[in-house]
Amino acid sequence: MFKIDIKDKALAPKGKKRILWADKDMPVLAKIRERFAKEKPFEGYRISCCLHVTAETANLMRTLVAGGGDAVLVASNPLSTQDDAAASLVEDFGVPVSAIRGENNDQYYSHIKSAIEHSPHITMDDGADLVSEILKNHPSLHKQIICSMEETTTGVIRLKAMQESGVLKFPIIAVNDVRTKHLFDNRYGTGQSTIDGIIRATDILLAGKTFVIAGYGWCGRGLSERARGLGANVIVTEVDPIKALEAIMNGFRVMPMDKAAAVADVICTVTGDINVIDSRHFPLIKDGCYICNSGHFDVEINLKALAKEAIEYEKEVRGNVDAYRFSSGKVIYVLGEGRLINLAAAEGHPASVMDMSFATQALATEYAVKNRGKLENLVHLLPRSIELDIANTKLATMGFEIDQLTAEQERYLSSWESGT
Ligand code: ADE
Repeated sequence: MFKIDIKDKALAPKGKKRILWADKDMPVLAKIRERFAKEKPFEGYRISCCLHVTAETANLMRTLVAGGGDAVLVASNPLSTQDDAAASLVEDFGVPVSAIRGENNDQYYSHIKSAIEHSPHITMDDGADLVSEILKNHPSLHKQIICSMEETTTGVIRLKAMQESGVLKFPIIAVNDVRTKHLFDNRYGTGQSTIDGIIRATDILLAGKTFVIAGYGWCGRGLSERARGLGANVIVTEVDPIKALEAIMNGFRVMPMDKAAAVADVICTVTGDINVIDSRHFPLIKDGCYICNSGHFDVEINLKALAKEAIEYEKEVRGNVDAYRFSSGKVIYVLGEGRLINLAAAEGHPASVMDMSFATQALATEYAVKNRGKLENLVHLLPRSIELDIANTKLATMGFEIDQLTAEQERYLSSWESGT
């Protein structure tokens, strides 16, 4: 049985206002919700979701429930829960939630256990913790799960590793890899919300600061553009020569972290890998530098090594800022405990971009149900027609029109005879 566990029911009225505020910027999802309410595609299905518990996620949960799903929600990160949104989901929208901002590791996994005890037919993950737990410890569920949706790059990488090692027992839809998700959410969402988190945590003026970004995937691209837009001198660090070249040709300086760390005023990691800021970097980092992470897991900064090397640690010198003091007198500030700074110190991506991500999640879930039993136990994409449907609806809700191919142009594009 799923156990509801939230911080405080009394936060529901504030949460409801924030959920409805987000909803006005999520018109694509709202249209899907209206259709689902009529067609009830998820009637008879139990759905367990392990996502960031935010106002935007609340609107996705409302959509799954409108479609007849028996859906529950737990947190995909201990520090990303918006307690008011969680309270309102439970009190106003009848969606069971187990998530409390700041929960410890044991609570986090007890909430995931609760999502498993819901005995789901469908799961939805942001980082693959729920699927990983089911595959490792709950073989009795493997047969009944018809599909699992994955929201983020890190989760897709983990799931592809599971596919490679032959342990996947049900199909996965890599929602992250659908173009209506990563091209917008990872780039524009992470770009803006990461800057938002850093500014809310520190009140830094970015103009004229040296801002080092580790990783030039879609998130790193978005972040570097936004930091440049605010006047920062952006340096990119990379391990992939193609991405490094792209960063250079987009006008950014590129160098190894061993050099960049020494000149940074701010360092933000968005790589998905461990120890990107490691013990060898701490002696190089300047006094007063802010270090933070916007990758999925809190592994990108070696905080254990930092704690060992610093002589003094002061928690919350300001909200979401911890200070590590060295024997030389130097201080390094860690933002958001090295967890996703955009959700730890700000509100995550704005609703209007989550509209596309969660429209993709909702339609992926419908696709999984329609194709029940037909998908192999592999990591799948969605058909292009679903991407185009979401993109066309988003354009229409934004009031934009685009051209259509003429019959002559279509014929030309599908022929090869005419050349020079
Ligand atoms: N991931 C990043 N931003 C988010 C948000 N606002 N809601 C849910 N998941 C997110």
